[in-house]
Amino acid sequence: MQHVLSAAQFDKETLEEIMAQAAQMEQIIADGQSDLAKGKVLATLFYEPSTRTRLSFETAMLRLGGSIISETDVNFSSITKGEVLSDTARIVGGYADIIAIRSKTPGDAKIMADYSGVPVLNGGDGSAEHPTQGLLDLYTIAKHFKLGQEPLTISYVGELITGRTVHSCSQMVKKFPNIKINFVAPEEIQIPDKYFDATTDTKHFELTDEILETSDVIYDTRIQKERLDLEIYQKHKNAFHFDAEKVNKMKPHAILMHPLPRVNEIAYEVDELPQAKYFEQAINGVPVRMALIARGLGLI
Ligand code: NCD
Repeated sequence: MQHVLSAAQFDKETLEEIMAQAAQMEQIIADGQSDLAKGKVLATLFYEPSTRTRLSFETAMLRLGGSIISETDVNFSSITKGEVLSDTARIVGGYADIIAIRSKTPGDAKIMADYSGVPVLNGGDGSAEHPTQGLLDLYTIAKHFKLGQEPLTISYVGELITGRTVHSCSQMVKKFPNIKINFVAPEEIQIPDKYFDATTDTKHFELTDEILETSDVIYDTRIQKERLDLEIYQKHKNAFHFDAEKVNKMKPHAILMHPLPRVNEIAYEVDELPQAKYFEQAINGVPVRMALIARGLGLI
């Protein structure tokens, strides 16, 4: 079954195939809609806050001609009454043809996949992974660069210890040759060892001009208050602030990404600069998730 649970499940060829399928989905979006998933139901179970991920999954299913059922607040879910996730999985798997889930506990998407009997798309499992975001990040990078062909320096900046989008995206880009990665964060919130590979990656504790000037992609992240000890959050909450002066040091064709939401990491003045690609990145979530739903349902 075509679950999407972790970046580790993908090889380079599959990543390329998904990106090609996402590019085809852009045509359906331009046309408005298709009947590809007519009669199919997507369940979105979102037990953590979300704007982009849930709405782009739902837009994706609607563009494919399917329907949606949704749980958007864990407080209104039987989980709050004490139901175990494996029971929820069996039930929702009986209602829907495919499930997208976000939860605060690593491994929850896997439980869903084990018990639901339908394909499951991991929309973020706590501080572990966010593979569908990783795929849309990869798609965004591939739209701007010849991924795997030209040498690329990708710098992940901010809160990397619990940053699930970075955990997934960095593992995916590493499936391609010619990639050099900088992880830029204070030591306390640096990338976990399991996502660090000394052959391609370097850790930096400060954002230097050299990193700004030599990166092709800078992937900034939010310092995630809800996942950190308050003391660590307070210490690092303003760790790296991108203003126009800083972004102007980037190469003209370099791109600045961010999974969003931003809090105070990127000044609004940066939005007007050519490097700012975070809104485009979020919109790329729709064709990528259309491809993942269509693959999950066996339609492509
Ligand atoms: C991210 C997430 O939820 O992990 N957002 C997203 O899905 N686009 C990052 C974040 O919340 O900071």
